[in-house]
Amino acid sequence: KARVLTGITTTGTPHLGNYVGAIRPAIEASKQEDSESFYFLADFHALIKCHDPEMVHQSSREIAATWLALGLDTDNAVFYRQSDIPEIPELCWLLNCMAAKGLMNRAHAYKAAVAANQEAGEDPDFGVTMGLYSYPVLMAADILMFNADKVPVGKDQIQHVEMARDIAARFNHHYGQHFTLPEAVVDDSVAVLQGLDGRKMSKSYGNTIPLFLPEKKLKKHINKIKTNLLEPGEPKDPDTSTVFQIWQAFATEAQTAEMRQAFADGIAWGEAKKQLFELINGQVAEARERYEALLADPDHIEEVLQKGAVKARAYSQPLLERLREAVGIRAMK
Ligand code: TYM
Repeated sequence: KARVLTGITTTGTPHLGNYVGAIRPAIEASKQEDSESFYFLADFHALIKCHDPEMVHQSSREIAATWLALGLDTDNAVFYRQSDIPEIPELCWLLNCMAAKGLMNRAHAYKAAVAANQEAGEDPDFGVTMGLYSYPVLMAADILMFNADKVPVGKDQIQHVEMARDIAARFNHHYGQHFTLPEAVVDDSVAVLQGLDGRKMSKSYGNTIPLFLPEKKLKKHINKIKTNLLEPGEPKDPDTSTVFQIWQAFATEAQTAEMRQAFADGIAWGEAKKQLFELINGQVAEARERYEALLADPDHIEEVLQKGAVKARAYSQPLLERLREAVGIRAMK
C-alpha cells in the first residue's frame, strides 16, 4: 500500500491555495483503497514564522475543522497534531546530525530571508532563527517518521520533499535501510494558485482567499482579484489572468473550455468574477456549514486528534526505537 502524508502549518486560516494544492488531492488519495493516509497539523512548524500563541492555537482549530468539514474519513486516515508525537522532534535531532549544512543553505525559505535582508542593507542573517534555517529537517522528520511514499504538496514544497529524500538516503547509507525515499506529488494544473494580487496565494503575502469565508465575504474577496483595465467586450487573455487560473482549479474541463471562450469573447470582469464566485461557492457551501459547526465544538476536534495521535504513535514509537538502536543509543548491557 502506498503511504500518503501531508501537513499544513498552523499559522492562519486555510485558503484556496492550501485546498487545491494539498487538502483536496490528499482527501482524494485517502479514498483510494490501495493507500494509507497520514495528515497532520504542523504546529511545531508554525513557531518558525508566528510568535503569536493565540494565532497558532486558533489556526490549529481552523485547519483541523477544515479537514473534517471536507469529509476526511478519520477512521481510515491517521489525522493528528505534530506536537502530539514526541518521536518527531527526537527524530528531527537524529536527522539534524546527518543533514548537511550546505544543503540547508540552499533552502528557499532561508535564501528568501537572506535576499530580503541584503536588499534592505541589513546583516544577511538578521532575524533568521535556527528554526527557519533547519525547517527542512523538521519537515524531513515529519515525512520519514511514517515512511511516506507520496507527499501531496504545492510546488513551493517540492524542494523540501527532495531534501527529505537526500537526508533519508544519507541516513540509510550510514545506518542501514530504515527509511523509504519519499516523492512529492504535485497537481500540475494548479501547482501554484495565485492570490488577489497575482503573486502566489500565501498567508505571508496577505493575499489569500480563505476557503470558508461567509458567502458575502467570499464574493467581496473574489471581487478584489486584480485584473487589468480591459473594458467589457475586449478580448481577455486567460493565461495571464488570476480569475481564469482560479477558475481552472475548480472547474471541469468543459467549464474551463467555456470560460476560455468567454474570455476570447470579451466577458466583463464583473461577470467573470460573479461566475467564479458561484462556482467556488457551490463547491464549498455544504462543507462551510459543517466547518462552522465543528468550530463551535472544539472538544470534538480535540477528541479526534487524540485518537489520531494514538494511531500515529503506534507507528512512530517502534520506528524510533529501532532508530535509537541503530545509532547506538540503547540500554547498558
Ligand atoms: P503550508 O502550510 O505553507 O501550505 C500547506 C500546503 O498548501 C500548499 N500551498 C499551495 N498550493 C498551491 N498554491 C498555493 N498558492 C499554495 N499555498 C500553499 C503548500 O504547498 C502545502 O502543500 N512546510 C509545509 C507544511 C509541512 C509539510 C510537512 C508538508 C510540514 N511538514 C510534511 C508535507 C509534508 C508548509 O509550510 O506548508
